[in-house]
Parts: sequence; structure tokens; C-alpha cells
Amino acid sequence: MASLIAFALTISLVFNIATSQSNITRGSSLSPNGATNRWLSPSGLYAFGFYPQKDGYALGIYIAQTSQRTVVWTASRDNLPLFNNATLEFTTNGGLVIDQAQGQQINIFDAGASIASMQDSGNFALFDSQGTVLWQTFDNPTDTLLAGQRLVAGKTLFSSISEVDQSIGVFKLAMLPDGNLVQYANLGTEPIGSSYWSSNTTGTGPNVTLNLDSNGFLYLLQNSTNFITNLTQGGFPSNNTIYRTKIDVDGIFRLYSHDLRNMSKNGSVIWASSNDKCAGKGLCGVNGYCEVMNDDARCRCLPGFEFVNPELWSMGCERNYTLEKCKMNNLGTAVRMESLSNARWEEATYEIPEATTQEDCSAACLNDCHCEVALFTGSECRLQRLPLRFLEVTDSDSNVGLIKLYVASSNNGSDPSNPWIQIKKARRMGIFVSGVSLISISLLVLLFSGVLIYKARVWAYRKVSDNKNSQLFENVGPRAFSYAELERITNGFKEELGRGSFGIVYKGIIKNSMKVVAVKKLKEELAQQREIEFQTEMKTVPCWAERIRMAIDIAHGILYLHEECETAIIHCDIKPQNILMDGYNCAKISDFGLAKLLEHDQTRTSTLIRGTRGYVAPEWYKNLPITVKVDVYSFGIVLFEILCCRRSVENNFPVNEAILEEWVYDCYETDELSKLVNGEDVDKHTLDRMVKIGLWCIQEDPALRPSVKQVVLMLEGTVNIPVPPNLASFLSTVV
Ligand SMILES: *[C@@H]1O[C@H](CO)[C@@H](O)[C@H](O)[C@H]1NC(C)=O
Ligand SMILES: *[C@@H]1O[C@H](CO)[C@@H](O)[C@H](O)[C@H]1NC(C)=O
Ligand SMILES: *[C@@H]1O[C@H](CO)[C@@H](O)[C@H](O)[C@H]1NC(C)=O
Ligand SMILES: *[C@@H]1O[C@H](CO)[C@@H](O)[C@H](O)[C@H]1NC(C)=O
Ligand SMILES: *[C@@H]1O[C@H](CO)[C@@H](O)[C@H](O)[C@H]1NC(C)=O
Ligand SMILES: *[C@@H]1O[C@H](CO)[C@@H](O)[C@H](O)[C@H]1NC(C)=O
Ligand SMILES: *[C@@H]1O[C@H](CO)[C@@H](O)[C@H](O)[C@H]1NC(C)=O
Ligand SMILES: *[C@@H]1O[C@H](CO)[C@@H](O)[C@H](O)[C@H]1NC(C)=O
Ligand SMILES: *[C@@H]1O[C@H](CO)[C@@H](O)[C@H](O)[C@H]1NC(C)=O
Ligand SMILES: *[C@@H]1O[C@H](CO)[C@@H](O)[C@H](O)[C@H]1NC(C)=O
Ligand SMILES: *[C@@H]1O[C@H](CO)[C@@H](O)[C@H](O)[C@H]1NC(C)=O
Repeated sequence: MASLIAFALTISLVFNIATSQSNITRGSSLSPNGATNRWLSPSGLYAFGFYPQKDGYALGIYIAQTSQRTVVWTASRDNLPLFNNATLEFTTNGGLVIDQAQGQQINIFDAGASIASMQDSGNFALFDSQGTVLWQTFDNPTDTLLAGQRLVAGKTLFSSISEVDQSIGVFKLAMLPDGNLVQYANLGTEPIGSSYWSSNTTGTGPNVTLNLDSNGFLYLLQNSTNFITNLTQGGFPSNNTIYRTKIDVDGIFRLYSHDLRNMSKNGSVIWASSNDKCAGKGLCGVNGYCEVMNDDARCRCLPGFEFVNPELWSMGCERNYTLEKCKMNNLGTAVRMESLSNARWEEATYEIPEATTQEDCSAACLNDCHCEVALFTGSECRLQRLPLRFLEVTDSDSNVGLIKLYVASSNNGSDPSNPWIQIKKARRMGIFVSGVSLISISLLVLLFSGVLIYKARVWAYRKVSDNKNSQLFENVGPRAFSYAELERITNGFKEELGRGSFGIVYKGIIKNSMKVVAVKKLKEELAQQREIEFQTEMKTVPCWAERIRMAIDIAHGILYLHEECETAIIHCDIKPQNILMDGYNCAKISDFGLAKLLEHDQTRTSTLIRGTRGYVAPEWYKNLPITVKVDVYSFGIVLFEILCCRRSVENNFPVNEAILEEWVYDCYETDELSKLVNGEDVDKHTLDRMVKIGLWCIQEDPALRPSVKQVVLMLEGTVNIPVPPNLASFLSTVV
């Protein structure tokens, strides 16, 4: 009898859901450990408030009665976790504000609301005095849609990092303005190849919405009357059940139902965008791949690699020891190739040597300093660098992945703490052995010809774009060729196509693909250029005007890489040692050993740390996406070195001068810039401008740094340079 009454009570509560709401007045607040840590909806079904997350708290909306907390909305996902002394205030002027630590405020809504309300639909809304909605969580979804909520064109759901951390994770579901609903790896943009599910409704209109009804009906609507596609048929029980859809941590979009009569039961999955738990692209991060074991997705690493963070697979895998730089076989480093069958990954092939067997392919990679992995397809051997993105191992693929392994114990004969020394050594050896005086500039030749050849390839691709192999060419970036290869391709530099002021262009044919290419060889005078130890050179050679010229040249070089190449290139290692002076004292950027190619339209990438300490941007250390702005940062440091004729770090200098960027900043703050040039008679106005440009370039927030195009304009004096923001926060993190 008692249970019957209880049952009846629950039902009547549920009936009220649609209309009731609890009103929260201005001046109310919540805190994790305070008297009030949440506001409940009238029936008690949903709560808006603080809940524990990792080492602190998060603020959001959750189903209040489930045994496992089911979060449906999260505030401030970029700033998690919150401290235990955080408070949420519905302020007296009608704003909604999270107060953290010393004065750190996060405004959810600025001001002007009269009433706030946690509704039984799961929506938290702010109203003006007329009852008009000013802001609501339903318009600002995170990873979940509830019944009655819609995802409008241009909006995106982002998965969470993990079930217990609602920070933004690695997947997204976007309602595109062309009417298509698409799931992507969350890489900042939508590079070709990162989507893994779509509703196939491209072109159905600009105002298409994704909707969920209270009976579990999930569908795309073109306008108020026209259905485009029904993802579920709906018609599920609705009296004692609530439905929610979520882009889960594993990237799969699922529809769940919850039985209101027994909230200790977990939600059940009614529908999923995929039944393959490994479907989410990039689930295992770079250099990792997914396997289904006991009906669960598990990540594994490439042979010789291990998880960056075993608790967070999406951070990917890295070599199980720290040696990363290229080592030559002939320097006594033990290397071998390990194979991984049935592999496939996003290709960024830089070279396809002639190799018809797996053994030849392994050998080709072993003998190439740049090669870290190779994909042997049975007929082709495709060399690539790390990291590998979207690695998959599936029975349907017959390709063999070949991964270069270094054996750590064999650093004999060289200084293991400085792999760069070994690379330089290797190059010099090459010069000596081959007796070709041009080798020191071969890198320049290689880059240039690489780009030329790439362009030729793209052209070829366009002509044959109906060819079934076209996918391959789309993914090919600039490719480096050795001097010997170029010699072979051009049949010993035989057939001249033309002459320019810088060199002669020869016709060449790449044998295995029979592609005709143009190869430019730089002239003898240019060949006179030496690879200089920039630092020592800096002490004697350039006067002020030459130094400014040099800075502009370098910026132009970076501009070429970032914006003028067919495929944008992040150099990743801009530093004086990689800048060569040619016979005309023109600065040239060299050494693309670490460069990262970007897809068309891609602006950010995530990758393992590259570059050289002292020149690398802070985001490398923070696991943030890597953008072209890392080169801008490094350029800022190099610019200071050029201005001040010294290294970025000088341990023998007085402590306040040891770190160049700090010293520059101090001198800038105290208006003593002449100290920087050691009393040298330079144009004060130019010096001031140069320092300001450098300070802009080394801003901690990549978004604040100018693009290299803006840098060029500033250097050339065609635009004004605003006063750079305070660097205090940056400087404190450097110390
Ligand atoms: C809450 O506010 C709304 C709109 O201002 C009002 O219609 C409603 O009656 C209020 N509800 C309660 C329980 O005070
Ligand atoms: C809040 O807590 C953090 C970390 O525990 C602490 O750094 C901060 O000073 C605290 N803020 C206030 C206002 O007490
Ligand atoms: C969209 O098309 C792809 C490829 O044909 C197919 O695999 C997928 O199931 C389709 N998506 C839906 C929601 O039907
Ligand atoms: C889409 O919505 C906008 C704004 O409401 C409206 O102006 C436009 O006519 C709509 N377009 C279509 C094709 O319905
Ligand atoms: C909805 O779209 C259809 C097809 O584009 C159109 O025929 C219909 O008039 C539209 N209805 C409304 C209410 O805009
Ligand atoms: C989708 O569902 C609606 C409502 O039940 C129905 O009118 C429509 O025909 C369905 N469309 C498709 C493509 O199944
Ligand atoms: C659901 O509730 C409606 C009243 O809103 C009632 O007419 C209907 O019989 C109920 N259905 C079930 C299955 O309990
Ligand atoms: C509620 O669900 C739990 C877990 O499934 C089950 O053990 C329990 O018996 C259920 N209680 C009722 C009243 O149905
Ligand atoms: C609900 O799910 C959680 C996490 O998956 C699990 O630990 C728990 O045992 C489940 N509870 C029930 C009653 O099935
Ligand atoms: C790294 O992994 C390889 C292959 O799994 C193994 O042979 C080697 O001992 C590991 N090295 C370290 C330092 O863990
Ligand atoms: C490296 O050198 C050490 C001592 O110089 C020697 O014991 C070791 O065997 C050498 N290792 C290899 C792989 O040659």
C-alpha cells in the first residue's frame, strides 16, 4: 500500500515537469562547501551547482537522482577544475559570474537579468523582468542535448575528456550551415579526412536543426515543417522516461533513456551513431591505434612506443625513451625496423623511393635520416615522419607499417646529450666524402626542388583526378630529395630548361611514377655561401642596417613557408643555427628536419614536442595545439638575438641579463633600450620598433602574437606597432 502511494506521488511529480520552474533571485549564490551548493529544479530531477571533479570542482547541470552523476551541461569548460573556494553568483546587477581565487572572474552572463531559473526540462535560463529569455543553457550546449533542446546550424557539441572530467575532449559533432550533421576529430578545424560519421544531408539548407523530442525521436528538421532525416523513429515510452543524446568521450553520438521510476538503474543506449567502439578518429591520439577487446575499445601504441598518459589515451604515444632526433646508421647507433601488419594512417608521405620488397622498404627508411616510419603497400614504399595521425589496424588492410626503432644503449662515440652535434657531423662527413662543394647548400636546393616537384605533382593530380589513386596525391606534401637522387632524376643535370639569376633549371623524371619535374640548381656564386655559426659571425660581420635587413629576410622566409607554399609548413625550429647567409648576405632559412606540414585549411595541429630549448613557444610544454604561431615566437627570440648580437641564454652574464627576452623586457619597461645594443650608435626609433615587434612575437598567448605577415609589415614600417601587452605572466612562467 505504502509503495503504491509512493508510486503515485512520483507520477504526479513527473506530470508537473513541463511547466514548473524554481525562481532564483538576484544576490543568490552557490559554493562547493557552502550552505547551498546547488539549485534544484522544482521536481528535483535536475540540479545546477558544484560537483567534485578531479582535484577540485566543476559547475554544471546534472540529473540529481542518478547514482552515477549524469552531467548534461558544464560551465567554463576551459577553466576546469575550479577551486573549492570558488563561488557562483547571480549578482545584484543581474549577471551570472564564477568567482575564483584572487579576483579571477568568469562571466557566464554579464548583467541585466531579473530572474534565474533551473527548469525541469534541464534548462537553466535567465529572464528579464518581462519574462523574456536573455540567456539559457539550451542555447549553449556542451556535449549533450536534452528533449526540447535543438542544435542549430553553426553550433557544435564537443565531447568531454573523460567521464569524470568535462573539459573539452577530442571529438565534436557539428551542425553545419550546409545542412549536414558531421562528427569530426576535434583538431580546431575540419581537415579533410578527420570526419568519421555524417548524416549525409549536405545541401539541405542553411537553417537545418538537430532535434530531440520527449519520446526519443531524434531528427533533422529543415524548417518548422520539413523533416530531412530521422535518426530514430521515436515513439518510445515517455511518461516515466527521459531521453538525452550525448557525444560521448569515445566520440560516438548516443541516445540514452533513463527510467524515472528507478534512478539507480544506469541509462540505456537506445541508438548510437556507430556500433564500432573504435569508430572515433583519433581516439588513441598520435602514434596509437584502437582495438576492440571484450566489447570495449582499447588503445595500443606503435611498437617501441608507450602512452604519454596511460589514463588519457587520447594524448597518444611517444617513444619509450627520449631520443628523438635523427641519428645516422654509420655513427654506430643501432636501428632496426619493426613491422605492424594491416596498418593504415593519414598519409603525409615525403618520399616514395624505389623499393619493391618489404626489406628494400625497411632499408630505404633506415638509410634516410628523416624517415621514422614507412608504409609498404606491396608495390610502393611511402616514407614518413612522426607523428602518425589516425592510425588504424584493420583486417581489411594489407599494408605493412614499418617503424624505425632506436636502441638506446648505443650512443657510443658521440655526445648523446646533444644529437644536433651528430647531425652536423653527419652532414660535414657527407661534404667530405662526396667532395661536392655544394653540399652545404644542398638543403636549399632540396627544399626548392622539393616544392617545385610538389607543384608538378599537384598539377599532375589535377589532370588525373578521376584516377583512383588520387587520394594518395592529395596527401603528399613537399618532399626532400638527396643530391644523388636529384642527379639521377635529371640524368646528371643534362637537359637544361632555363636559366634564372639564381640558378639553372633542369628537366627530370621521377622513375617510379614517371612524373616530369623541374629541378633548380643554385649557381656557383651562391654555392660559395657557408653554413655559418651565426653567433660567432654576429660578433664581427653585420652593421645595424644589415641586421635589420637580415631580420626582414628571415621573416620573409617564414612568410613563404606559412602562406605561400602549396602546403603550409610550420618550420618548428627557427633559430640562428638554421639560418644561412648566402653570397649576397641574404639570410635563408634551412633545415626542415623538424618541419610540420599542414593540410589545406588546417590551421592547428597537435604533435609531440619539436624544436630547440630557448626558442620553443610555451604551448609546446602545455600540450596545446601547435600553430604557425610557434614560428612567430621563435622569430621573436631570434630577432632579439640579432638586435643585441648575443645568444638568447648566456649563463656567464649577470643574472638579470642572462635570459635575453627578460632583459629586453626590463630595458623596455625602464626605457633603457640603448643598453641592449651596448652603446652602439643605432637609430633609436628603429630599435624601439624592433623591440616592440619582438615583444609582440613572444606573447604567451599564441592568439595575441601577430601573424608573420603582420610581422613583415611591421618590420618594413608600413604599419604602426601598438604598445605590446604586459609580459609579466609570461616572464613568471619562464623563471
Ligand atoms: C517564476 O518566474 C516566472 C517568470 O517571472 C513566473 O511566471 C512564475 O510564476 C514564477 N514561479 C514561481 C514559483 O515563483
Ligand atoms: C582559493 O584557493 C586557491 C587554491 O587553493 C588559492 O590559491 C586561492 O588563494 C584561494 N582564494 C581565496 C580568495 O581564498
Ligand atoms: C552516410 O554515408 C556513409 C557512406 O555511404 C554511410 O556509411 C553512413 O552510414 C551514412 N550515414 C547515415 C547516417 O546514414
Ligand atoms: C534561414 O533563416 C534565416 C533567419 O531566420 C532566414 O532569413 C532565411 O530565409 C532562412 N532560409 C531558409 C532557406 O529557410
Ligand atoms: C519548408 O521548406 C519546404 C521545402 O524547402 C518549403 O516548401 C516550405 O514552404 C517551407 N516551410 C516553411 C514554413 O518555411
Ligand atoms: C520522419 O518522421 C516524421 C514524423 O514521424 C514523418 O512525418 C516523416 O515522414 C519521417 N521521415 C522519414 C524520412 O522517415
Ligand atoms: C501517459 O500519460 C498520459 C497523460 O499525460 C496518459 O493519458 C497515458 O495513459 C500515460 N501512458 C502510460 C503508458 O502510462
Ligand atoms: C532498480 O534498479 C536496480 C539496478 O538495476 C535494481 O537492482 C533494483 O531492483 C531496481 N528497483 C526497483 C524498485 O525496480
Ligand atoms: C552504472 O555504470 C557504472 C559505470 O559504467 C558502473 O560502475 C555501475 O556498476 C553501473 N550501475 C548499475 C546499477 O548497473
Ligand atoms: C622500448 O620498447 C622496446 C620494444 O617494445 C623494448 O624492446 C625496449 O626495451 C623499450 N625500452 C625502454 C627503455 O623501455
Ligand atoms: C659502449 O661503450 C661502452 C664503454 O665505452 C661499452 O661497455 C659498451 O659495450 C658499448 N656499447 C655498444 C653498443 O657498443
